Amino acid sequence: MLINKTPSESITIMTEMVMPNDTNPLHNLMGGNLLRWMDVAGGICSRRHSGCICVTASVDTVSFHSPIRMGEIVTITASVTRVFNTSLEVFIQVEAEGGDVKTRRKCNEAYYTFVGLDEWGNKLSLPQIIPQTTEENRQFDGALRRREMRLILAGKLKPEDATQLKLLFNKD
Ligand SMILES: CC(C)(COP(=O)(O)OP(=O)(O)OC[C@H]1O[C@@H](n2cnc3c(N)ncnc32)[C@H](O)[C@@H]1OP(=O)(O)O)[C@@H](O)C(=O)NCCC(=O)NCCS
Repeated sequence: MLINKTPSESITIMTEMVMPNDTNPLHNLMGGNLLRWMDVAGGICSRRHSGCICVTASVDTVSFHSPIRMGEIVTITASVTRVFNTSLEVFIQVEAEGGDVKTRRKCNEAYYTFVGLDEWGNKLSLPQIIPQTTEENRQFDGALRRREMRLILAGKLKPEDATQLKLLFNKD
């Protein structure tokens, strides 16, 4: 049975410390290692929400705003913004803290899309997410536009069929 949930019920928080083996020659966290941690947090979040194996279908653009140094603590927060049918979107935020553990700085954020599969690799319909707050509703509404954009880029949707994106550009 599919049990619908709220975004806050799906929140997954993962904490890591940057060790020497995670860094580049400047002793900052390597971007690829951060993407991996984000992928793991998103995978746990989507699995907890759906109760099935979830594989990464796509990762939207990620910018690295602020370097994260060796020894810093990294907090990765993931939550489901919207479920489509067999896929769902997860919003992932990254914060870092150094010597002053009371101050966290925002480092980056990204949207990952996961697809739910059974043990034989067949796609599964997933339980829905019911937004409650203004911010959760904003993310929920925006997810349709982001989905259209990524499916266009993946060659799975014709631009002329992107109804939500068209609405954005034809507001008059
Ligand atoms: C992701 C995967 C399961 C999609 O299977 P598919 O048969 O190509 O997909 P379909 O076109 O039938 O789409 C299935 C769902 O995935 C979504 N999807 C497919 N490609 C996508 C993309 N590039 N970005 C976002 N969503 C995508 C579709 O929108 C659809 O969602 P919906 O059911 O909620 O509407 C398949 O491509 C796969 O197994 N990829 C490898 C996954 C993996 O191993 N990831 C780890 C990295 S190596």
